[in-house]
Amino acid sequence: MTPSSCKMPAMAAADRLIVALDVSARDSALALVSALRPKVQRFKVGMELFTASGPQLVREILEGGSQVFLDLKYHDIPHTVARAAVAAARLGAGMMTLHLSGGALMARRASDELEAHCQLYRIPKPKLLGVTVLTSLAPSDLEDLGISRSLPEQVLAMASMARSAGLDGVVCSPQEIKPIRDACGRDFLIVTPGVRPPGSEPDDQSRTLTPRAAIEAGADFIVVGRPVVKARDPLEAAEAILLQMDAA
Ligand code: C5P
Repeated sequence: MTPSSCKMPAMAAADRLIVALDVSARDSALALVSALRPKVQRFKVGMELFTASGPQLVREILEGGSQVFLDLKYHDIPHTVARAAVAAARLGAGMMTLHLSGGALMARRASDELEAHCQLYRIPKPKLLGVTVLTSLAPSDLEDLGISRSLPEQVLAMASMARSAGLDGVVCSPQEIKPIRDACGRDFLIVTPGVRPPGSEPDDQSRTLTPRAAIEAGADFIVVGRPVVKARDPLEAAEAILLQMDAA
């Protein structure tokens, strides 16, 4: 166990697992939610499902008692992103994302407007998370994008910017948890996709860790998509992941 994991507050594995509903049909998404609900409380609705099935589906998942992480990775001018963030709060999202590559002003404005709106209307404020560097990107991709910092430096710079802009946390690869935790502190949320159970395919993720290693490194939440969604028995797959998380 690492020193940073020793400082983790006691939170059950089931609270920390977010299953990415990466399907396009409403019926498949709701079938997954009802199959997984005995063990999984948080579901991520990303751009595929949201584009296909929209806010009504989010409401249906919420009405069933689960929490929704609305992962639409906003990236636009500050005004547009801030208004979208407020709309996500009104919809009832518990967590949401924006791309930190949209800049500090965009991140700050979204954070400020979200806070002000939720206070004014007394609605729960979703956790606003910044995407540092997509977990599918490798160092050579950064070079192609004209970014001269190394990948770890870029991730850390983005995370520090998120913290200064008032965001609740970041989404990053599990391999980047420790330096972010050291730089941004214990109360800064770290959510990690790119998690793969031992022996499973990395798919298009290039910087992966196992569920156990991600929790041991200090992740607050892990996001798992295909290893659960594409499994023959999604509940069994989720249970196996929860067991590995518990072992941490
Ligand atoms: O199927 P898999 O477990 O790779 O799914 C990972 C999920 O996490 C996807 O929904 C993807 O959009 C999301 N994600 C990611 N990398 C980020 C942010 C989000 O893979 N940096």
